[in-house]
Amino acid sequence: MSSRLLKPPKTVEKNMAQTFDLIIHNGTLMTPGGRVQTDIGVRNGKIAAIEDLSNHDAAEKIDAKGLHVMPGAIDTQVHFREPGGEHKEDLESGTRAAVMGGITGVFEMPNTNPLTTTRQAMADKITRAHGRAWCNHAFYMGGTAENAADMADLERSPGCCGVKVFMGSSTGNLLVEDDESLRAVLSHGVRRVAVHAEDEPRLIERKKLAEESGDVHSHPVWRDDETAIRATKRLINIVRETGRKAHLLHVTTADEMKLVSDHKDLISVEATPQHLTMSAPECYDRLGSFAQMNPPIRDEQHRLGLWWGLQQGVVDIIGSDHAPHSTEEKQQPYPNSPSGMPGVQTLLPVMLNHVSHGRLTLEHLVDLVATSPARLFGIIGKGRIAMGYDADFTLIDLEQQREITDDWIESKCGWTPFNGESTTGWPVGTIIAGRSVMRDGELLGVADGRPMKFFESENAD
Ligand code: DOR
Repeated sequence: MSSRLLKPPKTVEKNMAQTFDLIIHNGTLMTPGGRVQTDIGVRNGKIAAIEDLSNHDAAEKIDAKGLHVMPGAIDTQVHFREPGGEHKEDLESGTRAAVMGGITGVFEMPNTNPLTTTRQAMADKITRAHGRAWCNHAFYMGGTAENAADMADLERSPGCCGVKVFMGSSTGNLLVEDDESLRAVLSHGVRRVAVHAEDEPRLIERKKLAEESGDVHSHPVWRDDETAIRATKRLINIVRETGRKAHLLHVTTADEMKLVSDHKDLISVEATPQHLTMSAPECYDRLGSFAQMNPPIRDEQHRLGLWWGLQQGVVDIIGSDHAPHSTEEKQQPYPNSPSGMPGVQTLLPVMLNHVSHGRLTLEHLVDLVATSPARLFGIIGKGRIAMGYDADFTLIDLEQQREITDDWIESKCGWTPFNGESTTGWPVGTIIAGRSVMRDGELLGVADGRPMKFFESENAD
């Protein structure tokens, strides 16, 4: 495979003769040109050589024989709820869970306390992440009717990955329920607007169905497919009217996949491992309100519709919607039980297991969690194994068989909906800016993740 690579020209070779900070030897690299079995040299946190480096020195050498090396996986939807609490996730525990699951970067959602809706709130998050975040990070600016007019400025805050809008209420207090307010957010600024599309008027109208039943099986009845489809249709209309690029988060219905496939010029699409893997009623029979999330896990027909969307290329990104709540909170009687499940640590194991079953290729997974996030959100220096790019890598053992268990979970909630799942394919190394932070399940080094940089934001050095 390595024979496809040209020898470096003389001038380049002279530069390569220097030593490297890190050499990853003998891995199968997932490059833009396909799988290549060769070495990677890292200097100053960047990829400085992709070539046979068997005769070169480095401060650290990793033998990746038998492993696949992919550009670092980025989870573009997590809720870490900084400043957290004894049982509540924070930036330290959330990013620790991320790197243990092979994730090198996260985008955090703004429904935090305080809400991330101002430049100050964004700057405070970046300060709090400094020296505590294990992986790279960025934050969504929450869009509201109140801050919409300032969005062209707010979205340029350093560390901002884009704008987030909740069309339907979920956890926290961030809501853009009417078309006028949605239009206002979409009319100001240029960054991609990530949207939680559930129709709030219909949610209010149907809430009694959940209250009267008191049974979590009614979650996808209260928040039915029409609730999601209606909001997505409203979003499509306003996106077409304003020409603004949007990112439709956690799509849950087959119908939305079909609808949105006609609007891929402006709308990118996320699916979650939970919606691709579990279906109703089985997940509610087995997990009760631990399977409760918004928008809900639906029946098998919808799950298969999501796979159709993924295999047809309608899905651009896999994000986890990591939204942990403690066991005590989840055990409250439905519908008082909060919606959300942890997912940042299990994203890759669950998706690699789908790879092992032939439902998607490893190349496709790399596109969904690394290349597309970088391309669609305009992240600088990420998403590819290429000269000059950041040296963020996830090492994968495609053969490793493991069981996902609650006691492996680093999140403060200490549980996962995938407890007991046997999987094939596992992330065995997390490397960020050339530093190993996880190897074979062991946390290494220090928490030194950095804010990500974007083409369309202000960037501090
Ligand atoms: O289930 C969910 N939980 N969906 C959301 O959109 C929010 C999240 C949370 O913050 O807990």
